Amino acid sequence: MSDELDTLKKSVVLCTLCDLSKSRTNAVPGSGSIKTDVIFIGEAPGRNEDLQGAPFVGTAGKILSEALEYAGFTRSDIYITNVVKCRPPNNRRPNKQELDSCRIYLQKELEIIRPKIVCILGNTAYGSLLDGSEITKNRGKVIKRDDQLYFVTVHPAAVIYNPELGQVLKNDLKTLHDILDKIKKGIQIQTSE
Ligand code: URA
Repeated sequence: MSDELDTLKKSVVLCTLCDLSKSRTNAVPGSGSIKTDVIFIGEAPGRNEDLQGAPFVGTAGKILSEALEYAGFTRSDIYITNVVKCRPPNNRRPNKQELDSCRIYLQKELEIIRPKIVCILGNTAYGSLLDGSEITKNRGKVIKRDDQLYFVTVHPAAVIYNPELGQVLKNDLKTLHDILDKIKKGIQIQTSE
């Protein structure tokens, strides 16, 4: 791991910028390979993540891992993080103040890793990163914003409540894998603004 990423993780672990620091068991920094071309970004840690201090290790994590494998990604080769690094009580959605105070950490992760593409998992990350309110229009598409490419898909936890989304997530991640192959080969890809 790079020194910079290591320092960032230590700041996340000790962070007291918002009140979630008072109720958390562990802060949950991002995890995975710094050499990755793609970062996956979820909402916030759930109960298992809070207990273990690692992202996507509970039920949603299992669904994400299966979809990643289906699409041809190896979990240890990519980087996974959340827009908010501490668990909101009862898994409620993070509020604006929590999103705003945590934004510096995600920005720094993106600066250090400089991924070719960012995979947005669900509405909260979509809202926080691209100011979008609902993913439906852009799901499965690539968006270019300020010279960074983003790919939008459903949140793995949505699959728990709507199992039909399981195949949607798998197909989207397969599309993302193909897009990444094209980017690496210098092939032009279609983007939305
Ligand atoms: N849901 C998320 O958004 N992130 C996690 O780390 C786990 C569940």
